[in-house]
Amino acid sequence: MIKEKLVSIFWCCFSGLKKNEEEEAAKGEELEELLQLRENENEEKGKEQQFQAADEMVDKENDYEKQNNGEEQQADEMVNKSKELEEDEEKGEKMVNKLGGVVLAFLAENYDNAISNTAMMRRKGCKVIHGVDATDMANHPSLKGLKFDRIVFNFPYAGFFKTKSRTSQLLIHQDLMRQFLENAVRMIGEDGEIHITHKTNGFHGEWDIPGLAYQQGLQLVKAEDFELSDYPGYNTKRGFGGDDNFNCYPSKTYMFRLI
Ligand SMILES: C[S@@+](CC[C@H](N)C(=O)[O-])C[C@H]1O[C@@H](n2cnc3c(N)ncnc32)[C@H](O)[C@@H]1O
Repeated sequence: MIKEKLVSIFWCCFSGLKKNEEEEAAKGEELEELLQLRENENEEKGKEQQFQAADEMVDKENDYEKQNNGEEQQADEMVNKSKELEEDEEKGEKMVNKLGGVVLAFLAENYDNAISNTAMMRRKGCKVIHGVDATDMANHPSLKGLKFDRIVFNFPYAGFFKTKSRTSQLLIHQDLMRQFLENAVRMIGEDGEIHITHKTNGFHGEWDIPGLAYQQGLQLVKAEDFELSDYPGYNTKRGFGGDDNFNCYPSKTYMFRLI
């Protein structure tokens, strides 16, 4: 269809047929439409390439699971892919899907045990899904309509917003909690529980997680002091990367049920 339009436009130009101004304007519009179509097509191609790269990375993880060796090499490849994608973005190309494969590459780059841990979880029968937004998880295609016995969010944190006021930062974190709870309420069964582990000192204490949960129709059934050694193999990690563990004391695990 595009080719046909091209041929028709160029034929008109070369034959020097200028019937009247109206026709000229119509051709101009047609040309504009054609250019727009081609632009859209290029954009689509770019998107496809990004999706393909992300798919490739997910496939790589699956290969890893099957082979269960060559761990470091696989991770290196994923990191390289991630860098390529970042370079593409710098070039101005649209980065459409940062989730899935790209999250996987981010994990591989930032956390030494991420790839082996997720592979181990899958071997033990867990379903691991990357790139789930806690503020919209009830609508995630793989989770939609499912009911859970427990939904756990350990040390939620919306990020660092140093240029914002303390009040604005608090509102951002509370908004994350509110949206997470809204979603989680839709996803627990009748006897289901939502567990949030959170630091209780200073700024963290001001989040008022029990109050936010109450607004979503939840009651606090227990608030247990958090003790890392109760969870062998688990350690705290920051969301923006780096393999350091952060100080998680004093903290509590809040356990909520539907009222
Ligand atoms: C302080 S880290 C804690 C990480 C880990 N849960 C732990 O226990 O060590 C805060 C985490 O909240 C996650 N987070 C923030 N907003 C989120 C959202 N909308 N959806 C999913 N995770 C989110 C970040 O990606 C980051 O991993």
